[in-house]
Amino acid sequence: MINEDFLNDPYPAYHALRAAGALHWSPEFCGGAWLLTGHADVASVLRDPRFSVRRAGGWANSSGPEALTELREFKRIFSRSLLFVDAPQHTRLRQVMNAGFKPSALQELAPQIREIVDSLLDQITAKAADSASGQFAEFAQFAQFDFMRDFARPLPALVIAGMLGIAAADRSEFVAWSDDIAAFIGSPTPTLEIARAAQASLVAMNEYFRQLLPQRRAAPRDSGDLMSQLIRAEATGGIITTKELLAQCCTLLFAGHETTRNLLGNGMLALLQHPEQWQALQDTPALLPSALKELLRFDSPVQYTGRRLKVDVEMHGQLMKKGDLVIPLIGAANRDPEKFTDPDRLDIQRNQGAHLSFGYGPHVCIGATLTYLEAEIAMRSVMQRLPQLQLAGVVQSWGGNAVYRSLNRLPLLFARPPAAVRASQAEVQYA
Ligand code: HEM
Repeated sequence: MINEDFLNDPYPAYHALRAAGALHWSPEFCGGAWLLTGHADVASVLRDPRFSVRRAGGWANSSGPEALTELREFKRIFSRSLLFVDAPQHTRLRQVMNAGFKPSALQELAPQIREIVDSLLDQITAKAADSASGQFAEFAQFAQFDFMRDFARPLPALVIAGMLGIAAADRSEFVAWSDDIAAFIGSPTPTLEIARAAQASLVAMNEYFRQLLPQRRAAPRDSGDLMSQLIRAEATGGIITTKELLAQCCTLLFAGHETTRNLLGNGMLALLQHPEQWQALQDTPALLPSALKELLRFDSPVQYTGRRLKVDVEMHGQLMKKGDLVIPLIGAANRDPEKFTDPDRLDIQRNQGAHLSFGYGPHVCIGATLTYLEAEIAMRSVMQRLPQLQLAGVVQSWGGNAVYRSLNRLPLLFARPPAAVRASQAEVQYA
């Protein structure tokens, strides 16, 4: 199932799976897994406690017997992550983490997000003003930039760094660590090499936070800093242990930007490929909240997640055994025609209930409100500051990750400031 065509466009494969039946056993997927495509089925599995999230060990298995022993550290760290623990441990950790995601805490973050967005857009427009030379006259009025490299990738990484109170200067390091982990999690058949790189990066990330701890314990910050809040919970009578605290910091750093950058990238591409929708949004920016929901549904940044069965369960007349891996295909559920009319059509005014891009049930994404806040600020500013935004030719350059659906590059054009156009035309004239 997973090949280049699938990575470029997984939706025909999802529709074919759905047409063949509601539940499939795939012997290849992650070393053997049940695949679910229906919206109702995916939602029901995600809220059902018989389906456990404890699967950090399962990935090690999928890289072969050597990895099983080698990936001890990977399992050790991630087996304490919110994403991979069941109740009651999950309920306790989630309560501690919720404090940092309250609407009041997020509203305090808004000015910081605006500042980061402005500064990234300042850099993009400044480059456009500077790059006057070497242009053909007919293209002089447009400047090109890579939306992924210059905007979608740095923005969420800087926001999550701010939220955790860590140095933005360390960004390139933690983005690289995080990409290694994502490459492992996102590969249905990871090689030992991919598994080793993921473990080395997770250990480095854990160590980075461990070294920050003494300094932060000595001088916890007041607000907006999630790490200090976790440290306060650690100090208040064992609500969270030090190892758990470190695992949550790694999880946040990883989950906070591998996903949001893809909402920005996939969303921007979808809008520009549907000019009438893009125009409607520009004419009525108040549509932005509903547009973001639709973009999340249309091309989900997280295409699937996983669960392991705690007991035998029968579904659609098939027996799934205790210990089996189950893959709720979020990307497929979001295109289920039983839930969404004409599901392959982008409609930013669609009002047909919940997409499942943030998951569902007890593990529903803790960062959903932050994501909407960040994406709304980002998209609104892009619309205001990059006029006549358009695709620079044929752009599809999808990464090889089956879980985190991600563009490598998204070259775009926008109208340059008039002064830059005049300078460029003068240079072309005298060239
Ligand atoms: C477009 C953006 C995002 C998408 C599509 C997304 C998607 C998801 C999904 C599907 C889950 C559930 C996984 C499962 O049930 O197995 C999840 C959980 C989670 N997400 Fe997000 N996420 C996004 C942004 C964020 C951000 C910005 C943060 C943090 C700053 C974050 C932190 C988390 C955490 C900690 C969990 C685990 C929650 C739990 O297990 O209780 N996510 N996310």
